[in-house]
Amino acid sequence: MELILSTTPAAEIEAGALVVICFEDETPPFLNDEARAALTAAREEGEFDAKPLSTMLWHRPAGLKAQRLLAVGGGPRAKFDTDQMRKIAGLAVRTLKPKGIKDLAFRVEGDLAAEAMIEALAEGVILGDYEPNKHQTDPKKHDKRVENVRFSVPEESIALIEALRRGRTTGEAQNYTRILANEPANLLTPLKLVEEARTLAAEFGLECEILDEARMRQLGMGALLGVAQGSAEPPALIVLRYVPQEAPDCPDHLALVGKGVTFDTGGVSIKPSEGMEKMKYDMSGAAAVLGAMRALAQLKPRIPVTAYAPCVENMVSSRAQRPGDIVTSYLGKTIEVLNTDAEGRLILADALTYAVRQGATHLVDAATLTGAIAVALAHLRVGVFSNDKTLENRVLKASEAAGERMWPLPMDDDYNDYLKSAFADLANIGGRWGGAITAAKFLEPFVEGKPWVHLDIAGTAWLDEGKPFLAKGPSGVPVRSFVRLAMEW
Ligand code: BES
Ligand code: ZN
Ligand code: ZN
Repeated sequence: MELILSTTPAAEIEAGALVVICFEDETPPFLNDEARAALTAAREEGEFDAKPLSTMLWHRPAGLKAQRLLAVGGGPRAKFDTDQMRKIAGLAVRTLKPKGIKDLAFRVEGDLAAEAMIEALAEGVILGDYEPNKHQTDPKKHDKRVENVRFSVPEESIALIEALRRGRTTGEAQNYTRILANEPANLLTPLKLVEEARTLAAEFGLECEILDEARMRQLGMGALLGVAQGSAEPPALIVLRYVPQEAPDCPDHLALVGKGVTFDTGGVSIKPSEGMEKMKYDMSGAAAVLGAMRALAQLKPRIPVTAYAPCVENMVSSRAQRPGDIVTSYLGKTIEVLNTDAEGRLILADALTYAVRQGATHLVDAATLTGAIAVALAHLRVGVFSNDKTLENRVLKASEAAGERMWPLPMDDDYNDYLKSAFADLANIGGRWGGAITAAKFLEPFVEGKPWVHLDIAGTAWLDEGKPFLAKGPSGVPVRSFVRLAMEW
């Protein structure tokens, strides 16, 4: 899809459809008289109220060169923000694409033509275009494609072109994450993720290093290997490094760590079969760190960033780990595996410690870690857990700007009592209540006191239902927050 910035006035834009945003309290001042009259009439007749995400489509609008005019509601002007803008962009694509329209144009003026707004528009268009149809062979599912999107503004500038590029890069990276997260586990094994990481590194100029099973055994990553032992698919720890050319003396080093369970049966503590097919997305954290690295390799932040993705398959077999098994983590702490379905924290424990020992000064992990986070926050917000207020605030600020909603949860040390084991240093589950918190508390010792934020994305990495601006399936959360965090460091 081509995204182009232009300064063609609204009436002169030749496109399959011209998209304009209408607020509840005004008509776009830049439209010609005929189009304004049509809009006003539609409002007076009660057909279009300009409420958020409402739409109205006209064919052959008088006085416009565009073949169609799509008005999209922006709600009250005072409440409008980049989040709304991103959604409107996605909505326009998802409304017009099924009609076979190949080229669209947005006209924005004033505050709506600011850098942050253009960035959000570009992101929204790219995100709205994604369809989880990779494995559907009916050509009808693929023949409707938006090829060109123009963003018409009163005045062009380098800053706007850059904003467009940023939005596009981030949106494409997030879609890359969504494609990976939606791949079925027979096609996306841990070693296939390794291949993906290698390809990504070669294409975008990142360093890639893979720790294989033998190396992990040498290092003593017993927690990760215990999970992996039940599967015929070998595990891997993917390391992707971005090293900035500018500001090479940056004292900080950010690690992004992502849970990469390519399929989670639960192991011997097996999950119910209903809905188990969704557990292919249990590598969404790994997919998100890969996606973030793809964007960062192009956007080039000033801080060095390294991604760590521990990848395993959690299976049931005669070699699978059993409830009651005691494993020794890379840190040296012993863990009693009371439930083999609490496997994410086991692989993250070793990956987090490895990141620290490799020199990370700040760590952020993303993991589809607990069903309990969806009980707490539904499918709306990512759960945030941290041992460091400053880093937590940085992540929250980045997520706010990126339009990925998050919410902090408590980390009192008293929660550690739930993780006591009679026979090892730590148990891998904390009982019935506060499951997302006890999971986070489990991870905490493995970062050895380094500033760290844990993002539980189990409730938000998958959309069970599509939205008017986004397809159902993998959401690609929290790629945009990761990218912002690094870019604004
Ligand atoms: N991958 C799951 C978490 C999950 C559950 C994601 C439901 C999405 C939807 C994780 O490995 C898991 O199974 N966690 C257990 C932990 C429990 C055994 C303490 C859970 O949440 O039930
Ligand atoms: Zn599990
Ligand atoms: Zn899992």
